[in-house]
Order: sequence, then structure tokens, then C-alpha cells
Amino acid sequence: MPPSVMSTSNSADVLRSPAAVSAIGLRKSYGDRTVLDGIDLRVPAGSVFALLGPNGAGKTTAVKILSTLVSADDGQAQVAGHNLATDPQAARAAIGVTGQFSAVDGLITGEENMLLMADLHRLPKAEGRRVAAELLERFDLTDAAKKPASAYSGGMKRRLDIAMTLVGDPRIIFLDEPTTGLDPRSRHTMWGIIRELVTGGVTVFLTTQYLEEADQLADRIAVLNNGRIAAEGTADELKRLVPGGHVRLRFTDPTSYRNAAATLTDAAPDDEALTLQLPSDGSQRDLRTILDRLDTAGIDADELTVHTPDLDDVFFALTGPATAPTQPKEEVR
Ligand SMILES: Nc1ncnc2c1ncn2[C@@H]1O[C@H](COP(=O)(O)OP(=O)(O)OP(=O)(O)O)[C@@H](O)[C@H]1O
Ligand SMILES: [Mg+2]
Repeated sequence: MPPSVMSTSNSADVLRSPAAVSAIGLRKSYGDRTVLDGIDLRVPAGSVFALLGPNGAGKTTAVKILSTLVSADDGQAQVAGHNLATDPQAARAAIGVTGQFSAVDGLITGEENMLLMADLHRLPKAEGRRVAAELLERFDLTDAAKKPASAYSGGMKRRLDIAMTLVGDPRIIFLDEPTTGLDPRSRHTMWGIIRELVTGGVTVFLTTQYLEEADQLADRIAVLNNGRIAAEGTADELKRLVPGGHVRLRFTDPTSYRNAAATLTDAAPDDEALTLQLPSDGSQRDLRTILDRLDTAGIDADELTVHTPDLDDVFFALTGPATAPTQPKEEVR
């Protein structure tokens, strides 16, 4: 079994599964630009792994290396138990890849695109037709099957892309930005599709620009920055890396505000907004302590909001100061 690397938790069951994808020390440069500067990854079988990172971080490059489309300059990788350097054919047979840019041929119909994939997988004709019809149905494309794919909407094209990826019944699929450009409803449909695949035992390696997507789907998330994995873990583990959790008390009456500020000396005051900010991890125990303190001091705030760092905060904190967040997100409890 490949070694476990970069794990920040031993508790998650998925970590004990054999790795569907693993890599150690992957490097890739284009000319004098180092895109991947030694990255380690481990994706347990049957889990969803999300690779996050700013534009140009090397997400697509990582997907292309792991899906045998380009070779790494250095490092080792195994996919479905096959070493990419010595047995890329076997690895390729186990995977499906949906690229960042559509592989759909617009000049032919959705059905013809599917049948082309069936031919590529060397399925017998009748079997190819059966699989194509079944997948078109599953992705709600039966009505559009006979129309040229160029007439499809972005969401339909993306669904067709994934349907084409599934023709060979791959156990591991790579989805490079599966929902970019989709409206919220289509995005949720796609999430449902991905969850179904995972329920069926498929391992999903996806890249995304949408932090909520990683939060919703992924068992584990890695943030790629400057050619390295800046952090890796569950969404909760990543959120804990970022300080800044707090409780904010808002007052409408200036006198109540001043009294509270005089009592809660550890709170950061904002005299303009009449708010006090107390550091907090947002846990129930911590909130109870704060509420007890307020009660004991007879402080009656008009509003109490809890701020816990979200993946946006993690992303901003890990991927450089140039894009620091201006407005923290508030969650009213
Ligand atoms: N074939 C290539 N030749 C030269 N440079 C390349 C090639 N492919 C990628 N690059 C460069 O490698 C870097 C990483 O590109 P990559 O496409 O992997 O980033 P990405 O994280 O997928 O970005 P995005 O979020 O924009 O999709 C970029 O600077 C890109 O210009
Ligand atoms: Mg990309």
C-alpha cells in the first residue's frame, strides 16, 4: 500500500482506506517556470478530494500528470495501484477525466458524442448504444440526445462531458472545475451527480474555484499555492488553521455600550459601530462562558453574532496577502 502523507488527522475513516491516488514529490516546470515544486497527495479510495488554488497554481497540471496526459519531471505517483512511470496504460484504464475545457464535439449530437466514447472504449456496438442511452437518461439529456451539442446550454454540455467520462465505468474520476460557469441550480445538480458517483464507490478528484463546493463535497481538501501544498485536511481542519473566530456584540444604546466596554476589558471595542468583539472559537462551551459573563455583568446586547472562519478565509490566508478579505462573513446565531 502506498504510504500515507500530508495527513493532518488520524481520525477520519477514509484515511484508513487504500489510496486510489497517491503522489510523492511531484515536480513539473515549463521552461524556467516551476509549476509544481514537489507535491505530496493521498486520496483514499471512495472519497472526494478537492484541489483548490488560485488561477495558474497548477491544478490542471496536477490533474494532467495524475491522469497520464503529461509526465512529471520528478516524483512518484500511483493511480489505482499502478505506478504512472512504469504502467501508465493500466492507470489510464482505471480512470475517467473531465477536462477544464469541454471535450464535447459541437458538430455532432450528444448521442453521437457518447457513441464515439463507447467506440474509444472498444465497447461492442449494442453495448455502446445501451450504455450511451442509460447515461443520457441519467444526466437528463435524452430529449436533447439527437440535437447537435453546439445547441446545448453550458450546463447541458457539462453534463454531457461527465456522461462521456463515465462511459468506460471508471472507478476513479478526475473533474477539473466541473461546475465553473454553471448557475446555482445546475451546480447543485452536478453536486448531486458527484455524490451519487461516490455512493457507487467511485473516487473523485476534483479541482474547483468554489470554496463552498469543496466544503460541500470533499472529504479532504488541499490548497495549492506557489507550487506547493500549503495545507491539507478536512474543511473543518483547514478552518481551524485560520485565527479570527469571534463573537460580536452590538448595542444601540451608547450608555449600555460604554458600560459593557468598561466591563469586558478583553473585548475589542468599535465606538462608531457600538460593537464589542470577543475572541471565540464558536464552540458551545465557549459561547456559554461568554453568555454567563454577560449575564453576571448585567449586560444586555441588542445582537450577538458568531463569526467562524470559513474556507474563503482559509483560501485568502494561505494564498497570499494580495487578496486579503475585506469583509469577514457573519453568521447570526
Ligand atoms: N503546456 C504548457 N506550456 C507552458 N506553460 C504551461 C503549460 N500548461 C500550463 N502552463 C503554465 O503552468 C501554470 C499552471 O497552469 P495550470 O493550468 O496548471 O493552472 P490552474 O491552477 O489549473 O489554473 P486555472 O485556475 O486558471 O485553471 C500557469 O502559469 C500556466 O501558464
Ligand atoms: Mg486549471
